[in-house]
Amino acid sequence: LRIAVLFGGRSAEHDVSVLSATNVMRALDPARYDAVPVFVTREGQWLLSSYADGMLAKPDSGTEISLLPGGKGRLLAIPENGTPHEVEKIDLLFPVLHGLHGEDGAVQGLAEVARVPLVGCGIIGSANALDKDIAKRLFNEAGVPAARSVTILPDAAPSFADLRAKLGLPLFIKPARQGSSVGVSKVSDETDYQAALTEGFRHDTKLLAEEFIDGREVECSVLEAPDGSLFVSRTGEIAPAESHGFYTYDAKYIDADGAAIRVPAELAEGVEDELRALAARAFRALGCDGMARADFFVTADRRILVNELNTIPGFTDISMYSKAMAASGVSYPQIIDRLVAHALA
Ligand code: DAL
Ligand code: MG
Repeated sequence: LRIAVLFGGRSAEHDVSVLSATNVMRALDPARYDAVPVFVTREGQWLLSSYADGMLAKPDSGTEISLLPGGKGRLLAIPENGTPHEVEKIDLLFPVLHGLHGEDGAVQGLAEVARVPLVGCGIIGSANALDKDIAKRLFNEAGVPAARSVTILPDAAPSFADLRAKLGLPLFIKPARQGSSVGVSKVSDETDYQAALTEGFRHDTKLLAEEFIDGREVECSVLEAPDGSLFVSRTGEIAPAESHGFYTYDAKYIDADGAAIRVPAELAEGVEDELRALAARAFRALGCDGMARADFFVTADRRILVNELNTIPGFTDISMYSKAMAASGVSYPQIIDRLVAHALA
């Protein structure tokens, strides 16, 4: 099977995607999969990449790749100074892109237009999950408990006093459509709030103010079987180092001691079962298919709140999706096999 692995991309999580895709390439058994890595530049161009010695090439020029509409995987290669020509067609598109333009339904729509099987979540689930404001509304409607929040648009930012009255302090300001904690601020006073708005609006045109949940961060992996049934993994816990305050981008990827991961999470009796059931409900509520990692807060008084679903979860060395699956007896190559089977079903 010939699989195009898309990585890099236009979002703020470009570098995270490179780490994720490197691991995906490593897990693709060359005896069974012919992987074609395609580097998506920060500007969005698709360039033919290569994988050698455990490293993915990130060319800044070279052969451009184009997927033909209705072509069922037919690819056009456009060399920098040569004649465009067709290359061997792909059987599957595997976007290992995080955030906007990759995890939000855009590339998923392209796969649909090209009529090529897609690994992971489709258009609507991707779009719903990536937009924290839309996701929150759908969780609320489905009775999946989530933190209270207020949506903020540039022309209608609520006053700090209003937010404080509704959500308490501290509160968080987050871009509605970003991952990896990019652009997220913790707010305790008016000055913080103004700075958080400025920072947030650098990343998105829609923000979310969210109440602070004093809880543990517990996650689990959801993987859909070809027959539509859901496999939900054991849970894992993320404990950010004290110095970072919350699980920031740096705690995630820059600082090696930024967070400790514990799999399976040590939870009170019954909490894990409840959380796994909620993960399945949240997945359905957003219209997801294929896969997602479900992120929760668990409070000391045993409340379980969904934080978000990531339809293309990180596959970096420190990432939870594969660790939680491993705790459930599913290895990294088996995850890939199952994702491929789902895509081809
Ligand atoms: N958005 C990052 C990659 C994650 O959720 O794992
Ligand atoms: Mg995320």
